[in-house]
Amino acid sequence: MTTISPSTAADPSTSSDPLQLIDVDHVRFQVANAKQAAFFYAYAFGFQVAQVDDLTTGNRVAANYLLTQGNIRILLETPLTPKHPATEEISRYGDGVKDIALTVFDAEKAYEQAIRNGGESAYEPVETKDEHGVVTMAGIKTYGRVVHSFVSRRGAYELPAVKQGGVFMPRWRKVESYALNTYNLEHPCGLKFVDHCVGNVEEGRMNHWVKWYEDVMGFAMFKHFDDKDISTEYSALMSKVMASGNHLIKMPINEPAEGKKKSQIQEYLEWHDMTPGVQHLALRTDDELHSVAELRRRGVDFLALPDTYYELVWERVDKVLREHGHEPVREDHERVRDLGILVDADDEGYLLQLFTKPLQDRPTLFFEIICRRGSQSFGKGNFKALFEALEIEQERRGNL
Ligand code: FE2
Repeated sequence: MTTISPSTAADPSTSSDPLQLIDVDHVRFQVANAKQAAFFYAYAFGFQVAQVDDLTTGNRVAANYLLTQGNIRILLETPLTPKHPATEEISRYGDGVKDIALTVFDAEKAYEQAIRNGGESAYEPVETKDEHGVVTMAGIKTYGRVVHSFVSRRGAYELPAVKQGGVFMPRWRKVESYALNTYNLEHPCGLKFVDHCVGNVEEGRMNHWVKWYEDVMGFAMFKHFDDKDISTEYSALMSKVMASGNHLIKMPINEPAEGKKKSQIQEYLEWHDMTPGVQHLALRTDDELHSVAELRRRGVDFLALPDTYYELVWERVDKVLREHGHEPVREDHERVRDLGILVDADDEGYLLQLFTKPLQDRPTLFFEIICRRGSQSFGKGNFKALFEALEIEQERRGNL
């Protein structure tokens, strides 16, 4: 018999809010070739290729791979038929995030509440069951192509069991032998959970989606930057951060702002069929230096910063930390510089972060690797340095 550790979630009997979130159930990517994408994410980022649902399990319309690391579950989906809705989406948008799926106590109730709150249905509740348990899912549409599925799990499919290696959903099977899985257990990348998930929306639409997360999902504004903080001479964006009630997930929303040259948000939209979508997933680590060193060793391509960055960063960061009575940055400064990691501080502490280059040919989705030492913000102090780095990349792509 499997022992299930207590869930970190609240007791359902104490909550009457159907939109109370338990966890990020999974993030579903639609990709053109899930088999190859699985190998890429396993090799480059150290994910376990844990389970599949494909032709071998009787799925005749799509191949699905479950990749896991820490409490991160990425589901890669490839359509197997021209009529599958993902086929058209992939041709329009390329590979990218389709669904940020959230675990709740009762997916049907969460869905009904979101619809009552003004949400639009993506799909109605679907129950998948077998003799071991039940998974119920229902989806609402958020910005652009993206969906939030609500997922509730019972029996063997409860999330604590899945976290311990239990089967993800009825019909799925565990991957028995995958050479990289063993390698990755021996050489961990240290990624723990999805810290935040950033969406890009069209100019003038940020406040609409801020209100949508308030009204439909019951989220609240977390932090706010105005465009003066984060513009360079050439590019600009506006960003507001929405957070779920229990701060389980934060969803910053960006829109392009006026600049002399093309905003990175505008570049994203132009390569995403002028449709809003997920710009990056930030994956949390407890040890930024270890994670970035390991990812670099595996060949992950990160944004390169202007050389001048490290001439200024320590003074800027340590000044803020001193002012608020915090210890200075404890990571070795030379290693931080050698690994090209960014540092920022606010009144609560500091953070270390680094951004990958786009994960596919289109300049759309990328990852952020983030480590928090008290700070709960998003690296505002790095935006200027970062934008300069991004502009160099945009220029190389002929998109500036
Ligand atoms: Fe971020």
